[in-house]
Amino acid sequence: MSNTPDKYNFGMIGLGTMGRNLLLNMGDHGVAGAGFDTDASKGALLEKESTNNNLKGFSDIQAFTASLTSPKAIMMLVPAGKIVDDVIASLLPYLDKGDILIDGGNSHFTDTNRRVEELEAKGFHFFGMGISGGEEGARFGPSMMPGGDKEAYNVMKPILESIAAKVDGAPCVTYIGPGASGHFVKMVHNGIEYAIMQLLAETYEIMKKGLQLDNAEIGQIFTDWSEGRLKSFLIEITKDIFAYKAPGSDHLLLDDIKDEARAKGTGKWTSQVAMDLQAPIPAIDTAVSMRDLSKYKQLRVQAAALYHTEIVPLNVDKTAFIASLEQAFYFNMVISYAQGMHLLARASEEYKYNLQLGEVAKIWRGGCIIRSEFLNDIFNAYQNNAELPHLLLDNNIHQLVAEAVKGARTVLSATISAGIAAPAYAASLSYFDAFTSARMPSNLTQAQRDYFGAHTYELIGKEGVFHSQWVEKKH
Ligand code: 6PG
Repeated sequence: MSNTPDKYNFGMIGLGTMGRNLLLNMGDHGVAGAGFDTDASKGALLEKESTNNNLKGFSDIQAFTASLTSPKAIMMLVPAGKIVDDVIASLLPYLDKGDILIDGGNSHFTDTNRRVEELEAKGFHFFGMGISGGEEGARFGPSMMPGGDKEAYNVMKPILESIAAKVDGAPCVTYIGPGASGHFVKMVHNGIEYAIMQLLAETYEIMKKGLQLDNAEIGQIFTDWSEGRLKSFLIEITKDIFAYKAPGSDHLLLDDIKDEARAKGTGKWTSQVAMDLQAPIPAIDTAVSMRDLSKYKQLRVQAAALYHTEIVPLNVDKTAFIASLEQAFYFNMVISYAQGMHLLARASEEYKYNLQLGEVAKIWRGGCIIRSEFLNDIFNAYQNNAELPHLLLDNNIHQLVAEAVKGARTVLSATISAGIAAPAYAASLSYFDAFTSARMPSNLTQAQRDYFGAHTYELIGKEGVFHSQWVEKKH
C-alpha cells in the first residue's frame, strides 16, 4: 500500500549523488521530501531507492514547488558557480516571502555573501551550508556547516540534526555564524583535506621509493596506522585503496591510475583567501601547488630524462624509520590542522564571524572527510581556552608536537638526501621552525626594503620609523 504524501515538507534541487543521498537520508528520518532534477531519470532513481516511500522526484519546477508545504524549505545541491545563480533565478517566481532557501554546495563564500544580500532584500531566508562526507556521508550522516540566517537555521535544525553524523550522541552540525561563515569554514575544511591528502601521497612516495616497500607492505603500515592515534577517515580509505585490485587482475588499481591530480577549486580558494588575510598556511598552499605540478606530466618526463633523477634508497633500519615516519606524519597532520584553525581565527576577526573554533572541531569529529582522532585534541584545546590564538600554543598539543617533531626531522633529512620530493613535509617543518623562532631573519628583509625603496624600518626598543642612507649616493 502506498503512503506517498500529498505535500512534502522539504525540497531538494539537484539529484546528483550528493543531493539524492541527502534526501534519502532525510526520508529515512521521516521527512517527506520532494526532489527536483531536470533529468527525470534521477527523480525515478530517488523514488526507487526511497526506503519509506516518502520521497518523490520532479522534473518540472512548478510542480515541484507546488508540492511543498508553506513556508517552503528548499536546498540546492548543484555545482558551485553560475549554475547556483541560474537555479535561484528559475526558482524565484515560485517562492513566497518567508520561504527558506539553502545552498548546500561548495559555493565560494563571496558568492554566498552576495546571495545573502540579494535574497534577504527580496524577503527570503537564505543560508549557505557546507556539507562534508561524500556520498556515504550524505546518505548516512554528513558533517554540516550552516551559516547565515539563524532564524531559518533554527527552523531546519531538527531535520539537520536528525540526518547528521553523531559522535558520542552529539550531531555533527551546529550554527557556524553570520553571513557566509558556513561556506568559509567548509572551504577551510577542504584546504586541510588537500594538505592531509598531499601528506599521505608523500608518505606513500617515501615508503615506495625510499624504503622500497611493496604495495602489500605499504598497505599494512596504513592499516596499522588506522588503528592508532592517526585513526582518521583519510588513512582508512588509503588502507582500502592499498587492498583494491584492478578488476580481473592481480595487481592494485592504484598502479594503473595516472599521476595527474585534479581539483575543483576549494583548496585554491583557501590559499587565495589566506594570502588576502595574511594568515600563512604553507602546507595547504603546497598541496594545491603539487596538484598543479602533477598535471605537467610531459614536462616532468622531459626533466626527469634531462636531470637523470635518481633516488638513492634509504639506508636505514626500516622498523625504526617507520616509527619515525609515523611521528612525522602525525606532526605534519597537526600542522595542517593548526594552519587551518589559524586561518579560521583570522577570518573570524576580519569578517566578524564570531567562530567558536571548539564547536567547529566538534562537528568535524564525525561525518566529514577530515574526521580524525586528533580532532578530539583540537576540541579539548579550545574547550580549555576558547580564545586560544594558535593551536600550537595549547599545552597538550605542545607535548604531542615536541615529541613528534623528532620523527619529522629524521624523515625529512633522510628524504632530502635521498632526492625524494616531500614538499608538504618540508613546508610543515619549516613553518614550525619559523613559528617557534622568537627572532626571525625578517630584520634583513626590512633593511633591504629600506635600502632599495626607502620603505623604512622599526628599531628594537625605540619608537618610530627610521630610514638610512645605506651607502653613499652615486649621484
Ligand atoms: C567533502 C569533500 C567534497 C569534495 C571535494 C573534492 O568534504 O565531502 O571535500 O566537498 O569531494 O570538493 O574536491 P576536489 O575535487 O577539489 O579534490
